[in-house]
Amino acid sequence: MSKPEFVTVARLGDIPVGEGRAFEYKNQVVAVFNEGGQYRAIDDMCPHMGASLASGHLEDCIVVCPWHGWSFDTRDGAWCDNRRIKIDVYEVRIVGDEIQVAAVVNESLDENELRDQPDLTVDADRKSDKSPANNSGSVDSLEQEND
Ligand code: FES
Repeated sequence: MSKPEFVTVARLGDIPVGEGRAFEYKNQVVAVFNEGGQYRAIDDMCPHMGASLASGHLEDCIVVCPWHGWSFDTRDGAWCDNRRIKIDVYEVRIVGDEIQVAAVVNESLDENELRDQPDLTVDADRKSDKSPANNSGSVDSLEQEND
């Protein structure tokens, strides 16, 4: 399994403590939260009706969707009403003052199309695996990166 590739989405200080910000790539938006200096990233789009979770209320690692109140655990993406249902979680690391999120390869895009994007490099080995870079990051890897 290849290592996930990270993309810088923000710098330390860009996301206030207790808040989230959405960062857009070509075909995905990731919500990055600053929880007391620990950063976590999940899919920004609420699976209910598509609200941006980055603007939701964040408390004790739980973000509440601003539209209808569905809540999600930012540690593992679990929907709090049924923890077996999860949204995508992305690996986060801090390098210097940069907040970096593992890049996600959208399998619906042509590989050559992805290669042309300056901020996203395709690793063909990663397209079909379930590494954190392909939306299934683990809580452990998130915590290790942020310790
Ligand atoms: S859009 Fe998020 S709870 Fe309805």
